[in-house]
Amino acid sequence: MLIHANHIDLAYDEAGAGPPVLFVHGYPLSRRMWRPQLDGLGGVCRLLAVDLRGHGDSQATPPPYTVDLLADDLNAFLDALGINHPVIINGLSMGGYVTLAFYRKYTARVARLILTSTRAGPDSPEARTKRNQSINVIETDGVAPIVDNMAVQLLAPVNRTQPALLQEVRTIMLQTSPQGAMGDLAAMRDRPDATPTLSEVHCPVLVVHGKDDQVVPPEEARKMFQGLQTTSPEAELQLVENAGHLPNLEQPDAYNAILRSFLRSHSW
Ligand code: MLT
Repeated sequence: MLIHANHIDLAYDEAGAGPPVLFVHGYPLSRRMWRPQLDGLGGVCRLLAVDLRGHGDSQATPPPYTVDLLADDLNAFLDALGINHPVIINGLSMGGYVTLAFYRKYTARVARLILTSTRAGPDSPEARTKRNQSINVIETDGVAPIVDNMAVQLLAPVNRTQPALLQEVRTIMLQTSPQGAMGDLAAMRDRPDATPTLSEVHCPVLVVHGKDDQVVPPEEARKMFQGLQTTSPEAELQLVENAGHLPNLEQPDAYNAILRSFLRSHSW
């Protein structure tokens, strides 16, 4: 489905009924990565998976983007759907950077946070340089060379021999427009340090991370969890066995069980 929000068309899928949960994908992925969650968690909540601008079937705009712009898109998306009460928001990796920006800007709209495979800190100078190199590659050759390098790294070593999973990840990544990928890279490069935001989180929060994540090390999840505990003593940390950067796709049953338990454990 397409909906007009913040002056662009955003694509989304929806399943289930009840309190809304907004799923925000990582880079350079799309809402399609949340298929196992939309299939498995519809009995618990109303699930909304949106394509960020320039991804999947959403409209692209010229780069650069910022995490604040992508958060504004989500805010306008909820307005366009007529959702006025606070939602649960689950962001994976770059989606987590956007989710933390969304929390900072639109705190009152958030009932609970789920932070998957992400970190609060900003890019190091070396990481910024790599973002610029990737932007140059995409500008010249499109997203394919990035996909070739990245798809395998996203999975835990134990899952890299699953051809169907690897192919699905590659297919999703290849649907990202060059404008979208370059826009994201600038947004990630320039994102502010979200560590101060952690100590302002007062809602229930779940941190989920693959034990074998080689893109964002599990140490980052532990650091976020510690930062959250100052104001959210009930914050939860869950590490998923045999999962890399995409625990929701690599271990969908385990990931869904963690989310189901979190979604059911707090009253509304
Ligand atoms: C992602 O999975 O969204 C990105 O790899 C995150 C990043 O590059 O920092």
